[in-house]
Amino acid sequence: MSKPLEGIKIIDFTHVQAGPACTQLLAWFGADVIKVERPGSGDVTRNQLRDIPDADALYFTMLNSNKRSLTLDTKTQEGKEVLEKLVRESDVLVENFGPGALDRMGFSWERLNELNPKLIMASVKGFSDGHHYDDLKVYENVAQCAGGAASTTGFWDGPPTVSAAALGDSNTGMHLAIGILTAIIGRGQTGRGQKVAVSMQDSVINLCRVKLRDQQRLDRIGYLEEYPQYPHGEFSDVVPRGGNAGGGGQPGWVLKCKGWETDPNAYIYFTIQGHAWEPICRALGKPEWIEDPNYATPQARQPHIFEIFATIEEWLADKTKYEAVDILRKFDIPCAPVLSMKEIANDPSLRASGTIVEVPHKERGTYLTVGSPIKFSGLKPEITGSPLLGEHTDEILAELGYSKDQIANLHSSRSV
Ligand code: COA
Repeated sequence: MSKPLEGIKIIDFTHVQAGPACTQLLAWFGADVIKVERPGSGDVTRNQLRDIPDADALYFTMLNSNKRSLTLDTKTQEGKEVLEKLVRESDVLVENFGPGALDRMGFSWERLNELNPKLIMASVKGFSDGHHYDDLKVYENVAQCAGGAASTTGFWDGPPTVSAAALGDSNTGMHLAIGILTAIIGRGQTGRGQKVAVSMQDSVINLCRVKLRDQQRLDRIGYLEEYPQYPHGEFSDVVPRGGNAGGGGQPGWVLKCKGWETDPNAYIYFTIQGHAWEPICRALGKPEWIEDPNYATPQARQPHIFEIFATIEEWLADKTKYEAVDILRKFDIPCAPVLSMKEIANDPSLRASGTIVEVPHKERGTYLTVGSPIKFSGLKPEITGSPLLGEHTDEILAELGYSKDQIANLHSSRSV
């Protein structure tokens, strides 16, 4: 089966997570992604948090599948010449170095555009160009704090809290992938490449859209009816942390199930959809609540929503999270068990769909990774292992037209 991005050549000048997550996605869909890494060391994640001595760390392998690795010192004259050749033959260059690093290396957007006017340059930075913090280096949690996620996550009596989900890194990579694909379509119309830039702060803000909605509601009316602070608590002039409250119009909460005293994940998320009140009452064995004026409407329920959750927890006390969901699903109630990473790793449905996959690796044997979360009717992305450092250096240099002797010289000058 041919893959939609076959024929697209990408210089993957990325490291850590934000950039690699973007290029990995494009590689799954058929692009030829050439990861350019510094000779001897490579992407810093190859060595980070190793679980097997002398083998690439999972942090690297899980973000760099389906790629080829070229070692290249782009600060030597010979290395720069190789990169220039590659730029002339490629469709996209993706980078997420610290601010100004590529310019210092001699590959500014203007220079790249001069070398190959069709090239798309795609960059991740912590903050967008011209922002008063645009000189800062940024990692995941910094972006979550600068993007509004941390101030609105966690409990009201605790500090700002970051999410385990990579809102700053992988999320930014996904935004960049959309930008690159858009620029590829644009190039088909104009014949020219362009620079695509995504900042981690902006990508987090894009996911915090409903919190900006809430700020404007708060400014206007002074309270937020779906937050636990309503109606008994106090609101200040900023969107508070709402614990596990649902963000839309349906109240929800994380509720204890059988075994919560010893199992940290014996919980379900339970949502009370307005129109599903009747089935909820029937599921809980509380048919008298259906018509009770204290319970019948969302407005009537809100003042004592936590009493309702407590009653649901009494109902859940003798049910495991799986048993509870099996009952509630029959009543069409939006809910799910809180799953641990161990449960996710072993989930047969996730294995069958290819969301969790085991892939071979030359040093590690096999490793578990997250496959494509995007499913197509005409494409089944095949996830292959990540490359060893410099595994494809000679092959790529030969494709660029270097002779065996020239390749040997590049090796002896330590440029590759
Ligand atoms: N050959 C020679 N030099 C290379 C090279 C290669 N193949 N690859 C990288 N380098 C050099 C760069 O030129 C740069 O050198 P310089 O600073 O002397 O100009 C240096 O290696 C890399 O710098 P930098 O990217 O700033 O690395 P860092 O480890 O100090 O910072 C980050 C890491 C992630 C904080 C930083 O890259 C950053 O803020 N990136 C943008 C935001 C981002 O993506 N963050 C999330 C990562 S998940």
